[in-house]
Amino acid sequence: MTITKARSALPIKSGDSGSAPDSGDRSLQTPPSIRMLSDILPDEPLLMMGAGPVPIPAPVAHANSIVINHLGDAMVNVVEQVKAMSSYVFQSSTARILGVAGPGSAAMEMAIANLLEPDDKCLSICNGYFSQRLAQMADRVGAEVVRHIVPECESVNAEVVRELLQKHSPDVLTIVQGETSSTVCNRELPEICEAARAFGCLVIVDAVCTLSTMPLQMEAWGIDAVITGGQKGLSSIPGVSLVAFSERAWTKRRTRKAALSHWCLDAQLADRFWYGKSYHYTAPVSGVLALHEALRLVCQETLPARFHRHRRSSRSLQAGIEACGLQLYVNSEHRLDSVIGISLPEKVDAAELLKLTSTRYRVEISGSFGAPIVRIGQMGEQCRSHNVFRAFHALGSSLSSLGADVDVPEGMSTLERCLAELELSLDLSDEQKQRA
Ligand SMILES: Cc1ncc(COP(=O)(O)O)c(C=O)c1O
Repeated sequence: MTITKARSALPIKSGDSGSAPDSGDRSLQTPPSIRMLSDILPDEPLLMMGAGPVPIPAPVAHANSIVINHLGDAMVNVVEQVKAMSSYVFQSSTARILGVAGPGSAAMEMAIANLLEPDDKCLSICNGYFSQRLAQMADRVGAEVVRHIVPECESVNAEVVRELLQKHSPDVLTIVQGETSSTVCNRELPEICEAARAFGCLVIVDAVCTLSTMPLQMEAWGIDAVITGGQKGLSSIPGVSLVAFSERAWTKRRTRKAALSHWCLDAQLADRFWYGKSYHYTAPVSGVLALHEALRLVCQETLPARFHRHRRSSRSLQAGIEACGLQLYVNSEHRLDSVIGISLPEKVDAAELLKLTSTRYRVEISGSFGAPIVRIGQMGEQCRSHNVFRAFHALGSSLSSLGADVDVPEGMSTLERCLAELELSLDLSDEQKQRA
């Protein structure tokens, strides 16, 4: 008997053009020449300090490497816990919580497609790129969309929204809590929700970058749908998201007249898996396990301690940035803490700056969607002192190298002083202090 040596089907080194074993079928294409992943990825991972995705903790990474039966008993237990922990994070004991196999945008689309019928009226509060995306999704389901474009760098005023509600009588209002693109925070969200409720209008809130980084009380504020992604405040992986529907929203979904053109995003079908222990589609089990771990860490930390960690980290970084001579894009009154927008000094090219921070300092920060800014994320694991110091140093030193007039030592000492001062303002356990 002759034994032939097994041959790799894929030529795996660049330059090695190899060919597939001769199957006799001349119409088959040959496999492409592929580099090893290790040749593509950097030797030392970049510190992800942009607008997301953010670094993930070890238990989340570990959970993400496990595959289990999507309909077995273990998964049923995991799903029950994900819903229980999400109820805490959304601050709602009555919300219907559904996971979505998809990015934050898929969760946005699930909320929009299920709660808006063709010819319904939708009032969209637009502070930038992602709030505009909600309006575009509403257009696509055939709703009549009224866009309120908020002036650049400003949050929306509740009184203005009340007037718009009065004037247009919308069925649904869409709004972002934090607009990642413009780094604006809609602080008057509770008042806006209260006004919408008085007009019988459902409220959809995009909390993709803010959930678990700052207060959001779904039930107390009367929000009807909250959307979040995994890869930002929750410090999980991208690609598995959550939507929470209020009882009012769920009634609207159940009693809608128009058939839904979406299948994967049909909330009633998704409910089969999330509440009925049965099949809708094969759930992204590893991503749900990762989300479980991310939520568990939020619950372990508790929301008040987590909000404090985010605020302390972000406010200290903002103070450091200003102390070194740079300007923040949005005034403190309207500013988002979860993503910080930094105005580019004159003559500094954003692309050059980002390249320098990543190649020389191994820190990744984000560019913008048109505004003359770069952005540093302050979500989840990004809000750890060691990460904040490293991000600030990378930004300051890169700008210095590019000829900008920045006082990096002054910024550093301000950052350090603010972190120390803000530490005092909440009773944290020693363990929480150490991790902060
Ligand atoms: C506020 C906000 N909404 C929605 C999204 C969309 O999320 P995804 O890119 O996961 O679809 C993002 C992403 O950056 C966001 O920041």
